[in-house]
Amino acid sequence: MNKNNKITLITGANKGLGKEIARQLGLQGYTVILTSRNADAGEKAKEELVGAGCDAHTVTLDVTNSEDIANLADHLEKTFGKLDILVNNAGIALEWDGKPSNADKVRRTLEVNLVAPYALTEALIPLLEKGDDARIINQSSMLGSIGTAENNWDQVSGFMTVGYSTSKAGLNMLTQIQAKTLADKGILAAAAHPGWVKTDLGTDAAPMEVTEGASTVVELATMPREDFPNGKFIHKGEPLPW
Ligand SMILES: NC(=O)c1ccc[n+]([C@@H]2O[C@H](COP(=O)([O-])OP(=O)(O)OC[C@H]3O[C@@H](n4cnc5c(N)ncnc54)[C@H](OP(=O)(O)O)[C@@H]3O)[C@@H](O)[C@H]2O)c1
Repeated sequence: MNKNNKITLITGANKGLGKEIARQLGLQGYTVILTSRNADAGEKAKEELVGAGCDAHTVTLDVTNSEDIANLADHLEKTFGKLDILVNNAGIALEWDGKPSNADKVRRTLEVNLVAPYALTEALIPLLEKGDDARIINQSSMLGSIGTAENNWDQVSGFMTVGYSTSKAGLNMLTQIQAKTLADKGILAAAAHPGWVKTDLGTDAAPMEVTEGASTVVELATMPREDFPNGKFIHKGEPLPW
Protein backbone atom coordinates (compact mmCIF):
# COMPACT_ATOMS: atom_id res chain seq x y z
CA MET A 1 0.00 0.00 0.00
CA ASN A 2 1.41 3.36 -1.07
CA LYS A 3 0.42 5.74 1.71
CA ASN A 4 -0.30 9.31 0.60
CA ASN A 5 -0.02 10.87 4.08
CA LYS A 6 -3.63 12.11 3.97
CA ILE A 7 -5.35 11.69 7.32
CA THR A 8 -9.06 11.04 6.89
CA LEU A 9 -11.67 10.70 9.60
CA ILE A 10 -15.05 9.12 8.91
CA THR A 11 -17.78 9.09 11.57
CA GLY A 12 -20.14 6.14 11.91
CA ALA A 13 -17.69 3.93 10.05
CA ASN A 14 -18.30 0.59 11.76
CA LYS A 15 -20.79 -0.36 9.03
CA GLY A 16 -22.76 0.82 6.03
CA LEU A 17 -21.60 3.75 3.91
CA GLY A 18 -19.04 4.93 6.47
CA LYS A 19 -17.14 1.64 6.46
CA GLU A 20 -17.25 1.40 2.67
CA ILE A 21 -16.00 4.99 2.24
CA ALA A 22 -13.15 4.14 4.63
CA ARG A 23 -12.38 0.94 2.71
CA GLN A 24 -12.28 2.66 -0.68
CA LEU A 25 -10.13 5.54 0.58
CA GLY A 26 -7.89 3.14 2.49
CA LEU A 27 -7.28 1.12 -0.66
CA GLN A 28 -6.22 4.36 -2.38
CA GLY A 29 -3.54 4.97 0.24
CA TYR A 30 -5.39 7.33 2.58
CA THR A 31 -4.89 6.82 6.30
CA VAL A 32 -8.42 6.21 7.55
CA ILE A 33 -9.69 6.72 11.07
CA LEU A 34 -12.97 4.91 11.54
CA THR A 35 -14.99 6.27 14.41
CA SER A 36 -17.68 4.17 16.02
CA ARG A 37 -19.83 4.67 19.09
CA ASN A 38 -19.33 0.98 19.92
CA ALA A 39 -15.65 0.18 20.51
CA ASP A 40 -15.93 -3.51 19.56
CA ALA A 41 -17.76 -2.71 16.33
CA GLY A 42 -15.11 -0.11 15.46
CA GLU A 43 -12.29 -2.56 16.17
CA LYS A 44 -13.93 -5.25 14.03
CA ALA A 45 -14.34 -2.87 11.09
CA LYS A 46 -10.77 -1.62 11.49
CA GLU A 47 -9.39 -5.19 11.50
CA GLU A 48 -11.34 -5.98 8.34
CA LEU A 49 -9.82 -2.96 6.58
CA VAL A 50 -6.31 -3.64 7.89
CA GLY A 51 -6.72 -7.20 6.56
CA ALA A 52 -7.60 -5.72 3.15
CA GLY A 53 -4.34 -3.72 3.20
CA CYS A 54 -5.59 -0.36 4.51
CA ASP A 55 -3.81 1.88 7.01
CA ALA A 56 -6.88 1.91 9.25
CA HIS A 57 -7.36 3.09 12.83
CA THR A 58 -10.36 3.35 15.10
CA VAL A 59 -11.47 5.75 17.81
CA THR A 60 -14.59 5.41 19.92
CA LEU A 61 -16.90 8.36 19.34
CA ASP A 62 -20.54 8.91 20.11
CA VAL A 63 -20.96 12.00 17.97
CA THR A 64 -23.40 13.51 20.47
CA ASN A 65 -20.98 13.18 23.40
CA SER A 66 -18.88 16.33 23.94
CA GLU A 67 -16.34 14.47 26.10
CA ASP A 68 -15.80 11.90 23.30
CA ILE A 69 -15.32 14.78 20.85
CA ALA A 70 -12.73 16.47 23.07
CA ASN A 71 -10.88 13.16 23.60
CA LEU A 72 -10.88 12.50 19.85
CA ALA A 73 -9.42 15.94 19.06
CA ASP A 74 -6.73 15.38 21.67
CA HIS A 75 -5.91 11.90 20.33
CA LEU A 76 -5.68 13.16 16.73
CA GLU A 77 -3.41 16.03 17.76
CA LYS A 78 -1.06 13.67 19.60
CA THR A 79 -1.12 10.85 17.05
CA PHE A 80 -1.32 12.58 13.68
CA GLY A 81 -0.88 16.31 14.38
CA LYS A 82 -3.32 17.26 11.60
CA LEU A 83 -6.49 16.25 9.77
CA ASP A 84 -6.89 16.45 5.99
CA ILE A 85 -10.41 15.15 5.40
CA LEU A 86 -13.41 15.02 7.73
CA VAL A 87 -16.41 13.00 6.60
CA ASN A 88 -19.44 13.68 8.81
CA ASN A 89 -21.25 10.47 7.94
CA ALA A 90 -22.91 9.13 11.13
CA GLY A 91 -26.66 9.51 10.88
CA ILE A 92 -29.99 8.13 12.04
CA ALA A 93 -33.50 7.90 10.64
CA LEU A 94 -35.51 7.10 13.77
CA GLU A 95 -38.80 8.04 12.17
CA TRP A 96 -38.74 5.25 9.59
CA ASP A 97 -40.11 2.76 12.11
CA GLY A 98 -43.63 2.76 10.70
CA LYS A 99 -44.98 4.72 13.67
CA PRO A 100 -45.91 8.42 13.78
CA SER A 101 -43.10 10.84 14.40
CA ASN A 102 -43.05 13.01 17.48
CA ALA A 103 -41.04 15.84 19.02
CA ASP A 104 -38.70 13.49 20.86
CA LYS A 105 -37.72 11.66 17.66
CA VAL A 106 -37.25 14.97 15.86
CA ARG A 107 -35.03 16.30 18.66
CA ARG A 108 -32.87 13.16 18.78
CA THR A 109 -32.51 13.11 15.00
CA LEU A 110 -31.42 16.76 14.88
CA GLU A 111 -28.90 16.08 17.64
CA VAL A 112 -27.13 13.29 15.69
CA ASN A 113 -27.56 14.50 12.10
CA LEU A 114 -27.08 18.25 12.53
CA VAL A 115 -25.82 19.42 15.94
CA ALA A 116 -23.15 16.68 16.12
CA PRO A 117 -21.51 17.44 12.73
CA TYR A 118 -21.41 21.10 13.75
CA ALA A 119 -19.86 20.39 17.16
CA LEU A 120 -17.38 17.84 15.84
CA THR A 121 -16.25 20.08 13.00
CA GLU A 122 -15.78 23.04 15.35
CA ALA A 123 -13.55 20.89 17.57
CA LEU A 124 -11.47 19.69 14.62
CA ILE A 125 -10.98 23.01 12.80
CA PRO A 126 -7.54 23.60 14.40
CA LEU A 127 -6.41 20.20 13.07
CA LEU A 128 -7.96 20.80 9.65
CA GLU A 129 -6.09 24.11 9.48
CA LYS A 130 -2.89 22.10 9.77
CA GLY A 131 -4.03 19.71 7.03
CA ASP A 132 -2.88 19.70 3.43
CA ASP A 133 -5.77 20.62 1.17
CA ALA A 134 -8.35 20.24 3.98
CA ARG A 135 -11.94 19.27 3.18
CA ILE A 136 -15.17 18.69 5.10
CA ILE A 137 -17.68 16.38 3.46
CA ASN A 138 -21.11 16.25 5.06
CA GLN A 139 -23.14 13.14 4.26
CA SER A 140 -26.52 14.66 3.53
CA SER A 141 -29.55 13.37 1.64
CA MET A 142 -31.76 14.40 -1.25
CA LEU A 143 -34.53 14.19 1.36
CA GLY A 144 -33.09 17.39 2.82
CA SER A 145 -33.37 19.24 -0.48
CA ILE A 146 -36.01 21.96 -0.16
CA GLY A 147 -35.92 22.49 -3.94
CA THR A 148 -36.73 18.80 -4.51
CA ALA A 149 -39.55 18.91 -1.94
CA GLU A 150 -40.94 22.03 -3.60
CA ASN A 151 -40.75 20.84 -7.19
CA ASN A 152 -40.75 17.03 -7.07
CA TRP A 153 -42.83 16.25 -3.99
CA ASP A 154 -44.28 13.10 -5.58
CA GLN A 155 -40.78 11.58 -5.88
CA VAL A 156 -39.92 12.04 -2.22
CA SER A 157 -43.19 12.29 -0.28
CA GLY A 158 -43.12 8.64 0.81
CA PHE A 159 -39.81 9.20 2.63
CA MET A 160 -40.39 12.68 4.04
CA THR A 161 -40.28 12.88 7.82
CA VAL A 162 -39.81 16.08 9.78
CA GLY A 163 -36.76 15.13 11.84
CA TYR A 164 -34.74 13.41 9.10
CA SER A 165 -35.49 15.89 6.31
CA THR A 166 -35.02 19.03 8.41
CA SER A 167 -31.81 17.60 9.86
CA LYS A 168 -30.39 17.13 6.37
CA ALA A 169 -31.71 20.52 5.17
CA GLY A 170 -29.97 22.01 8.20
CA LEU A 171 -26.81 20.07 7.39
CA ASN A 172 -26.93 21.56 3.90
CA MET A 173 -27.06 25.07 5.36
CA LEU A 174 -24.26 24.17 7.78
CA THR A 175 -22.21 23.10 4.74
CA GLN A 176 -22.85 26.43 3.02
CA ILE A 177 -21.84 28.35 6.15
CA GLN A 178 -18.70 26.21 6.55
CA ALA A 179 -17.75 26.72 2.90
CA LYS A 180 -18.07 30.49 3.26
CA THR A 181 -16.53 30.95 6.71
CA LEU A 182 -13.68 28.42 6.57
CA ALA A 183 -12.34 29.32 3.12
CA ASP A 184 -9.85 31.79 4.58
CA LYS A 185 -8.49 28.99 6.76
CA GLY A 186 -7.92 26.89 3.62
CA ILE A 187 -10.76 24.47 4.47
CA LEU A 188 -13.29 23.48 1.79
CA ALA A 189 -16.77 22.04 2.44
CA ALA A 190 -19.38 20.21 0.38
CA ALA A 191 -22.52 18.18 1.05
CA ALA A 192 -23.07 14.76 -0.53
CA HIS A 193 -26.13 12.68 -1.40
CA PRO A 194 -25.04 9.04 -1.73
CA GLY A 195 -28.18 7.76 -3.50
CA TRP A 196 -30.66 5.34 -1.98
CA VAL A 197 -28.30 2.66 -0.75
CA LYS A 198 -28.69 -0.83 0.75
CA THR A 199 -27.61 -0.37 4.38
CA ASP A 200 -29.34 -0.82 7.72
CA LEU A 201 -30.68 2.72 7.30
CA GLY A 202 -31.43 2.48 3.58
CA THR A 203 -32.93 -1.05 3.92
CA ASP A 204 -32.78 -3.92 1.42
CA ALA A 205 -35.41 -2.17 -0.70
CA ALA A 206 -32.76 0.32 -1.87
CA PRO A 207 -31.59 -0.08 -5.47
CA MET A 208 -27.94 0.87 -4.93
CA GLU A 209 -25.13 -1.24 -3.49
CA VAL A 210 -22.92 0.29 -0.84
CA THR A 211 -19.86 0.20 -3.13
CA GLU A 212 -21.60 2.58 -5.54
CA GLY A 213 -23.19 4.63 -2.73
CA ALA A 214 -19.75 5.42 -1.30
CA SER A 215 -18.53 6.84 -4.60
CA THR A 216 -19.89 10.40 -4.22
CA VAL A 217 -17.96 10.99 -0.98
CA VAL A 218 -14.87 9.15 -2.23
CA GLU A 219 -14.75 11.32 -5.36
CA LEU A 220 -15.14 14.49 -3.28
CA ALA A 221 -12.33 13.33 -0.99
CA THR A 222 -9.92 12.44 -3.78
CA MET A 223 -10.55 14.97 -6.58
CA PRO A 224 -7.96 17.70 -7.24
CA ARG A 225 -8.47 20.75 -5.04
CA GLU A 226 -9.18 23.00 -8.04
CA ASP A 227 -12.11 20.76 -9.04
CA PHE A 228 -13.66 20.56 -5.55
CA PRO A 229 -17.25 21.95 -5.57
CA ASN A 230 -16.89 24.19 -2.53
CA GLY A 231 -20.27 25.05 -1.01
CA LYS A 232 -22.20 22.71 -3.33
CA PHE A 233 -24.54 19.76 -2.77
CA ILE A 234 -23.32 16.87 -4.92
CA HIS A 235 -24.52 13.47 -6.11
CA LYS A 236 -22.19 11.47 -8.36
CA GLY A 237 -20.30 14.55 -9.48
CA GLU A 238 -23.41 16.59 -10.33
CA PRO A 239 -24.90 19.44 -8.25
CA LEU A 240 -28.30 18.90 -6.63
CA PRO A 241 -30.72 21.70 -5.74
CA TRP A 242 -30.45 22.85 -2.13
N1 LIG B 1 -28.48 4.50 2.97
C1 LIG B 1 -29.09 5.47 2.28
O1 LIG B 1 -29.91 5.21 1.39
C2 LIG B 1 -28.77 6.91 2.58
C3 LIG B 1 -29.31 7.89 1.73
C4 LIG B 1 -29.02 9.22 1.97
C5 LIG B 1 -28.20 9.57 3.02
N2 LIG B 1 -27.69 8.58 3.85
C6 LIG B 1 -26.83 9.02 4.97
O2 LIG B 1 -25.63 8.29 4.97
C7 LIG B 1 -25.11 8.21 6.31
C8 LIG B 1 -24.73 6.77 6.61
O3 LIG B 1 -25.91 6.00 6.61
P1 LIG B 1 -25.93 4.43 6.28
O4 LIG B 1 -26.95 4.26 5.23
O5 LIG B 1 -24.58 3.90 6.11
O6 LIG B 1 -26.60 3.91 7.64
P2 LIG B 1 -26.15 2.81 8.70
O7 LIG B 1 -25.62 1.60 8.04
O8 LIG B 1 -27.33 2.70 9.62
O9 LIG B 1 -24.92 3.52 9.46
C9 LIG B 1 -25.12 4.63 10.28
C10 LIG B 1 -23.87 4.82 11.09
O10 LIG B 1 -24.06 5.97 11.94
C11 LIG B 1 -23.70 5.56 13.26
N3 LIG B 1 -24.33 6.37 14.31
C12 LIG B 1 -25.62 6.59 14.55
N4 LIG B 1 -25.78 7.35 15.66
C13 LIG B 1 -24.52 7.62 16.11
C14 LIG B 1 -24.00 8.33 17.20
N5 LIG B 1 -24.79 8.96 18.11
N6 LIG B 1 -22.66 8.41 17.36
C15 LIG B 1 -21.83 7.79 16.49
N7 LIG B 1 -22.26 7.07 15.44
C16 LIG B 1 -23.60 6.99 15.26
C17 LIG B 1 -24.11 4.11 13.34
O11 LIG B 1 -23.54 3.49 14.47
P3 LIG B 1 -24.19 2.16 15.16
O12 LIG B 1 -23.80 0.99 14.31
O13 LIG B 1 -23.61 2.15 16.51
O14 LIG B 1 -25.69 2.38 15.16
C18 LIG B 1 -23.55 3.63 12.02
O15 LIG B 1 -22.18 3.45 12.09
C19 LIG B 1 -26.19 8.80 7.22
O16 LIG B 1 -25.88 10.13 7.54
C20 LIG B 1 -27.44 8.75 6.34
O17 LIG B 1 -28.38 9.72 6.70
C21 LIG B 1 -27.95 7.29 3.64
